[in-house]
Parts: sequence; structure tokens; C-alpha cells
Amino acid sequence: MKAFSRATVLYNRESECGARRLGLKLKADGLRPGHFFMLRSPNTIDPLLSRPLGLYRVLDAAGEVLPVKRQSPFSGEGIEFLYNVVGRGTTLLSEKQPGDELQLLGPLGNGFPLPQDLGTDKAIMVGGGMGIVPFYLMAALLKDGLFLFGARGAADAALAEDFSGLPCRVEVSTEDGSVGAKGLVTALLARELTPDSLVYACGPPAMLKAVAAMAASAGARSYVSLEKTMACGIGVCLGCAVKIKAEHAGARGQLKMVCSEGPVFDSVTIDWDDIC
Ligand SMILES: Cc1cc2nc3c(=O)[nH]c(=O)nc-3n(C[C@H](O)[C@H](O)[C@H](O)COP(=O)(O)OP(=O)(O)OC[C@H]3O[C@@H](n4cnc5c(N)ncnc54)[C@H](O)[C@@H]3O)c2cc1C
Ligand code: FES
Repeated sequence: MKAFSRATVLYNRESECGARRLGLKLKADGLRPGHFFMLRSPNTIDPLLSRPLGLYRVLDAAGEVLPVKRQSPFSGEGIEFLYNVVGRGTTLLSEKQPGDELQLLGPLGNGFPLPQDLGTDKAIMVGGGMGIVPFYLMAALLKDGLFLFGARGAADAALAEDFSGLPCRVEVSTEDGSVGAKGLVTALLARELTPDSLVYACGPPAMLKAVAAMAASAGARSYVSLEKTMACGIGVCLGCAVKIKAEHAGARGQLKMVCSEGPVFDSVTIDWDDIC
């Protein structure tokens, strides 16, 4: 059974687009793209449950983002999250100051299968909004990566600058056309997709469903990171079930737990009609 550990807040600041960057001092190893942590305030039951956030970047002892290396798993003296304030839990998180403590459980989840394990070092990553999060570390592992980032407007699109030191090409689409191509990120994917593409995606359910359908019709492999409201994060409460197709049924029939059996799934296994 995993145990909560305590981590000290190094920084918790608003970024250009309104999303917040949270740096925590925490000796961590075994970190992979797509892992997540459950976070909560210690010594309070407000809110009672932890909130899941995806691992964004790895920090050194001074709290600086570690230069990326083409090797996984990653380890460091700290970790960084990128998060939007949407409700009670993330509002309280946004009020944490340097020196405050948080309780953390993780790294959790399966993470994305590594490209090298799938026989390639080339992949297309598709991120919508906060779906950018797993792809910083993934981009570090690729020799020939392409990151397609779908943002609402120029402010959100600025996050793509984080990727400037990485060995990967970045294409941006914005809904208002203020940066990059105007429209949805799936239009960028349509231009790049070939039968031998390996596609990784994270973002809103409708985007994931569209990416899965496009990859399937092109004969390409795709893996998606799903989000469900989570309580325990470790497969105990059964609160984060996702329905999979009958032919992929397992020990729990057509249900899989996003926290412990995901959050990353081969997109062909998902019953997309149940998601959106
Ligand atoms: C594996 C995983 C990784 C995540 N990584 C990130 C990340 O890196 N950055 C980030 O900003 N967010 C991430 N999220 C979403 C984040 O967990 C939620 O935004 C957060 O739990 C909301 O808590 P709250 O108390 O602020 O909001 P609540 O008061 O609980 O809810 C406010 C609103 O947000 C919706 N909501 C709550 N939880 C989720 C969820 N999990 N998915 C979608 N909508 C939700 C609710 O339906 C409600 O409308 C992740 C979620 C999962 C499952
Ligand atoms: S959050 Fe409890 S089983 Fe997934």
C-alpha cells in the first residue's frame, strides 16, 4: 500500500495563461510521463479528499527545472505541477505559500507506454489545454517528436514556450486563430497522421474521442490519458470507473479503474459512447 508523503511548497505562482505552476520539494524517482499524484492539505478535512494532478516537470534541489535527458524513469529532488483553479480543492491549493506543506500520494497510475518499448522513438503528442502536462517529459524521450497543442487563445498558447528547449517540433492551434492555425487541434493531427504514427493524447473527452477515431481510421496506434473524478487514487473506492469494450473485458468485466489501471489506455479498448 502506498503511503502519503509530505512535501514543501517551493513556489506556487500564476503563469501567463492563468494556470498555476506549483513546485514541490520532494525526493522522487520512478517518474514517467503520464504519472499523477493525489494532493491534499495536511491536518485538515477541508476538502476531505485529495485531488489528482499530473506530473509536469522534474526539479533539482534548488527548485530549477531539470535539463531533460533521454532516459526514463526520471528522478529529481522536486516536482512541478501545472494546474487550473476550478473548484474548492484547487482554490485552497492556489493559496499555498512557499514553505507550506502538502500531503502527496504518488507517483500513481500506469503512465504512457514508452515509445522505445513500442519499437519507435517517434510519436505525435496531442494536448488540449491542461492536456499539455504529460508531454513535457514525453517530448524529452523522443528523438523525433511532434507536439500538437490545442489552446483557447494566445494566453494559453504561451505555455508551448515551455517546450522550446526540447527536441521536438511544436505546432499550435487556437480556437480564435490568434496564434498558429485557427481551429481545433485535430485539424493539425489530420495533416500529420499516417498508418505508422504512434499517437499520444491528453485533453478534453471530446478531443480524445476524435483523436481515437482518427487514429483508428488511419490504422495508427493511439493511447489516451483519461480524467475521472477521483477519491482514493489507488483502485479501492471504485469511484473512477470507465467502461471498456466487451472484447477487452477483464477481472471487473467491462469496468476499469482510471486511477489504478489507467489513466492511460489504448484507445481501441475504450467504450467512447460511455465517455461522451
Ligand atoms: C489523473 C488526473 C490528472 C489530472 N491532472 C491535472 C493537471 O495536471 N492539471 C489540472 O489542472 N487538472 C488536472 N486534473 C483535474 C483536477 O484533478 C481537477 O481539476 C481537480 O480535482 C478539481 O478539484 P476542485 O476541488 O478544485 O474542483 P471540484 O470542486 O471538485 O470541481 C469543480 C469542477 O471541476 C470538475 N472536476 C472535478 N474533478 C475533475 C476531473 N478530475 N476532471 C474533470 N473535471 C473535474 C467538477 O465536475 C466541477 O465542475 C487531473 C485529473 C486526473 C483524474
Ligand atoms: S479513485 Fe478510488 S478507485 Fe479510482
